[in-house]
Amino acid sequence: MSIHFNKDEGSKIKLFTPGPVYVPERVLEALAKPNDTHRSKPYSEMHQMAIEGLQKILFTKNECLIFTSSATGIMEACVRNLLKKDENGLFLSIGAFGDRWHEIGVANGKNAIKAGVEWGKPITPEFVKEELSKNKYSVVVLQSNETSTGVYNPLNDIIPVIKDSGALVCVDATSSMAGIKLEVDKLGIDVCLASVQKCFALPPGLAVCSVSDAAIEKANQVENRGLYFDFISLVKKNKVYQTPNTPPIPQIRGLVVQLDYILDDEGLEKRFERHEQLGKRTRIWARDMGLEIFPEKGYESNTVSTMKNTLNIDYAKMVSIMLTKGFRIVNGYGSLVNKTFRIGHMGEITLENLEEMLKVLTDVINELRLKK
Ligand SMILES: Cc1ncc(COP(=O)(O)O)c(C=O)c1O
Repeated sequence: MSIHFNKDEGSKIKLFTPGPVYVPERVLEALAKPNDTHRSKPYSEMHQMAIEGLQKILFTKNECLIFTSSATGIMEACVRNLLKKDENGLFLSIGAFGDRWHEIGVANGKNAIKAGVEWGKPITPEFVKEELSKNKYSVVVLQSNETSTGVYNPLNDIIPVIKDSGALVCVDATSSMAGIKLEVDKLGIDVCLASVQKCFALPPGLAVCSVSDAAIEKANQVENRGLYFDFISLVKKNKVYQTPNTPPIPQIRGLVVQLDYILDDEGLEKRFERHEQLGKRTRIWARDMGLEIFPEKGYESNTVSTMKNTLNIDYAKMVSIMLTKGFRIVNGYGSLVNKTFRIGHMGEITLENLEEMLKVLTDVINELRLKK
């Protein structure tokens, strides 16, 4: 039987990836439970629990929506629902996923203008001010956590600058939501989105977001929003705790179980602290190994760490040796392949899990250095 695919038992590989990640047993059990239909009272009760849990995770009173898609679906929904034909959207990019959002804007025929910084660096408030002075923008989009570089943008400093311009602001928090604290209402974020296969530690297939009243009002004025990802029809059905089309009911059950765990068992603040510790520990390990951290100091992510190739190691080989030892870490993303590698430390990973993996990785790196 292949180590990669076992139809009876599933994968035994320990995932230190920036998603999809390890899914706890309690969620797998929840997925296997029988369900009622999506037009039933029991479903609506479950949907309501999911929405109320998401509002707590995001520190918001805004409408929270559930999408049958991955995060990219909501990134596209933002473009289609919030940008009119004759308006400009500013796509702030610090890496591959920022570039992707801009591509989505272009693919939808919108006036999508990209402003990017060198990979490894964050967006600064000064940069945003400068970009906003060049044009009139109705919508500004950006990542909280850029998974390709491991940089966390200083949202508390950037978002007030965007809000001052009067533009709506959308944040892709795919690789940080439920792992790093982000207070949607305090910052006035209009759409805050993520898929659930990362810090939520759920299987892929579901994405979630909050939508402000201003964003809903704006969507009402935008033509050709499409049908499947239309904020207005999603919000309308959300009011009765349903979705316009058939949702992945088992996945939503899994989300509710995991939200309960996060909010009532682990505790939200403890979860954020754990991720902070995981980030710190990985960076300490990297420095001790002589591996330089890729992100600019002070902007390192606490959910995914990106290390430069300061030791001149064959990272592809390192990743495949780790796989034979039962751990999946990942090479650099896109143009950063072999120039960096990444360790995902998000979801349910504990410090003990991390230490176990780092010990093995240390041996693998030392062996590769000896063989050079
Ligand atoms: C920051 C960020 N945005 C967007 C995406 C795309 O997410 P999905 O594959 O869920 O559509 C990812 C995926 O890794 C991501 O890390």
